[in-house]
Parts: sequence; C-alpha cells; structure tokens
Amino acid sequence: MAKSRTVYVCAECAAEAPRWMGRCPACGEWNTLGAHVVSGGSAGRRAAPSVETARVERLADVAPGGVERLPTGLAELDRALGGGLVPGGVSLLGGDPGIGKSTLVMQAFAGLARQGRVVLYASGEESAEQVALRGRRLEASGVGDIRLLATTALDDFEAAVDALSPDVAVVDSIQTLRSAAVASGAGTVGQLREVSARLIALAKTRSMALVLIGHVTKDGAIAGPKVLEHLVDTVLSFEGDRSHAFRVVRATKNRFGPTHEVGVFEMAQDGLREVPDPSALFLTERPRAAAGSLVVPVVEGSRALLVEVQALVAPAVYGSARRVATGLDASRLAVLLAVLDRKAGVHVLDQDVFASVAGGARVTERGVDLALALAVASSLRERPVGAGLVAFGEVGLAGEVRAVQRAEARVDEAVKLGFRRILLPALNAEQVLARGAAPGSELVGVRSLAEALEAAFD
Ligand code: TYD
Ligand code: MG
Repeated sequence: MAKSRTVYVCAECAAEAPRWMGRCPACGEWNTLGAHVVSGGSAGRRAAPSVETARVERLADVAPGGVERLPTGLAELDRALGGGLVPGGVSLLGGDPGIGKSTLVMQAFAGLARQGRVVLYASGEESAEQVALRGRRLEASGVGDIRLLATTALDDFEAAVDALSPDVAVVDSIQTLRSAAVASGAGTVGQLREVSARLIALAKTRSMALVLIGHVTKDGAIAGPKVLEHLVDTVLSFEGDRSHAFRVVRATKNRFGPTHEVGVFEMAQDGLREVPDPSALFLTERPRAAAGSLVVPVVEGSRALLVEVQALVAPAVYGSARRVATGLDASRLAVLLAVLDRKAGVHVLDQDVFASVAGGARVTERGVDLALALAVASSLRERPVGAGLVAFGEVGLAGEVRAVQRAEARVDEAVKLGFRRILLPALNAEQVLARGAAPGSELVGVRSLAEALEAAFD
C-alpha cells in the first residue's frame, strides 16, 4: 500500500498545493485551500490521459470525422445535446434538488435501452427499489432493461462497468460517489476531483457515454459542479421553477455541439413530457387586454419562442421604492427603469416595480428589454397595449432601441402564433423586410423608446 500524504486543494479551482497557503497560487482566491489526505500518487497524475504519439498536421488535412451520436429518443434532450450523447463523452447534468434530473436521465436511458444499448444506472442517492419505483411510474418501454447499481463506492462502479461494458452509464449523483484512495468524505473537493478524474478516464478508454448528475448548492460550499465543468465535455443544466410544471434543459458548454440550445419539457404524473411548441404553453393563461402584460419573442439557441412579461407598478409606500424581478435580470430591470424615467418621460423612480416572466420561464437575453419597458409603462398608465402586438429589441442607456440577433426567427414565431403587429428595432425591421415580410403582418420599426411608446399605445 502506497504511503498516504496530505495535499491542499483549492475549493474554487481544485488546484493542488503541497502546503497550506492563505491564497490559492493558481486562481488567487483567499482562504480556499483545504487539507486532503491522499494515498499513493496524486489523482491528477494517475488520471492523466495517455497521449498516443502526437503528430503535427496541416489544418486542411485533418478530416472532419463526424462525431458518432447516440440519440436518446427524447427529441428535446437530443436537441440540447446537439443530436445525442457521444461515445466516450462525459456530460454533467446539474440542477436543483427535486427538479427532475433523475427522471430525465431515466427516460433518456429507457430510450437508449429500447434501441438495444446496454445502459447502466448507478445510484448513490437512492436505493435500487426507489429507482425502480420511479421507473415503473414512468411507464416508458425500455425502462425494464436499465441495469441498476445502488452504490456509493467508485470501485463498485468501475467493477460493474468492467463486467457489463455498457454503452452508456450515469452516476446519480457525483457527490455521493467515494473513492477509497482519498481519505476525505464523499462530496468534498478532494473526492470530487479524484472520482471525476477516474470516471472521465474510464469513459474515454471504454468509449462509453457517461452522464454525471450533480447538485447545485446555493451557498457554493461544495465546489463540485464548478470544478467539474472544466473537466467534462458537456455541461447541461436542468432548470425550472418547482411551483411550475415546465422545465428547460440547456447546454452551457458543449465540445461536440452547439451551446445555448434548449429542450423544453413539462413534468407530468408519468414523467417528463416533451413540449415541441413552448410558445403555446407559455401563452395559455395570458390575460387579454390587461395593462402591464406584453408578449415578447425571445431566442433560445436556434429557436424563437414567445413568452409573456408582466409588470406591476404601484406607488412606493416605504422610504425607497422596491424592485422585484422574477425570471428576469434584476439589475437589467433597474437600468430600464432609469432609462424610462430619464429618456422617455415615464416617471417610475418613486414607484414599486414588480416584473416577471409568466409560467416560470427565465429570460436573460437583451431582446426582452423593449417589451419589459413597455410593460412597465403600460402598468403605470393602466392601459393595455394594442391587441395582437408583440415587441422585442435591446434598449440602450440613451433610450435608443438597438437591433438584436435572429430577428427573422422572432417575427416568424410571432406571426405563427397569430400576432400581427410587431414592434422591433428599425434596423431589424429593414433586415426582415428585405427578406420579404410575412403577409398580413405589420412591422413597426422603432429607433427609440419614445417612438416605441407612441406606437404601442395608439
Ligand atoms: P427527480 O427526478 O427525483 O428529481 P432530482 O433527481 O432532480 O432530484 O424528480 C423530482 C420531482 O419530480 C419529485 O418531486 C416528483 C416529481 N415527479 C413527477 O411529478 N412525475 C414523475 O413522473 C416523476 C418521476 C417525478
Ligand atoms: Mg435525483
């Protein structure tokens, strides 16, 4: 047995130092080094991938070599992945507890099993019975062929992979797996580093597609997923508001495909249902002719979808005005309120402002600016905007309305769902018109917030 030694591992970047230091020499963070007892060599060295004879080539001579894909059969997930899982590729699936990560993976694995793939589901969180219970609830064919392994020991998982040679495997969750080679407890940075390095090496040498489920904690005490993100090929996050049924899977890093592509699901009694037409879902409960409500076509990955933004403006009663943003960037809201007040004569600085995206969706792109500003003005004036209107565009600090990307896709989606009047940045309007606008739709190009306010409340 190799002699054990103590190393100091940074909780932020997982860099290793031979002795304790107040500041991490790699990332410069303070007070992040913690002691970890390691037996034998360091994890980093042991897991270093064996590089075959390296060869320098002209770029033009390198064959593109299409990436092999294992489509899961869940079209919304495959879309986010860029076509499916990749043999030898490691994906990290993060998300809040209870959001549906285990369910998503189980359904994807059922799809893979249906195609005759050997799939291994290693659960450290739940017993085999609990996992099986979830599987029955899903009633998806193929679930019965998933191979289950309930363990928290990395050695068990490695042995199962050796015995079964699965095409695809999942570890649910990475925080529960523990290597006997590291003295610290499961979920610590030292363990995560060792376990993930060994798992990644295992996936590469066996050409096995591997999914790691990871918890995201608010306090950030566990460096887990943050450190892992650098090591894996694909980072997926599963998001949603627990009080709503709808869920989004989003690739934030993808070495084999596009990022920011999203898949949309709805959590039902018998598992996740795909939502191929999210716009319709987000608009179902929309109030008609209500002040403070606006529909905006936003872009997620390659597709546009319509969401409703709502604002409620009310006189502030206590000292300073309150601003609450749900599903929207709070600092962006603050900027828009200042621009409305100073550049468009909409006086809101002494008002409480509550803004949200209906249905539990989350929008971070700038294309929502114009609609959000108009929703605030609409609520303040207690006047709804014209029927059948949608608006999109970025708002600058001078009150100007700036062009955003993928205007055509936004216009098309709005027209598809029956919206006829589209307020958009003037430059985008020119682009769309040059292509030929959809028949029956009216494009209103605006250059400033003031112009937009005039056009919206005709
Ligand atoms: P789960 O996949 O266990 O979440 P995670 O692995 O991210 O912690 O699912 C959690 C929630 O989903 C749980 O509260 C129950 C609900 N759920 C359904 O509504 N329908 C279903 O078919 C399943 C399996 C779960
Ligand atoms: Mg789970």
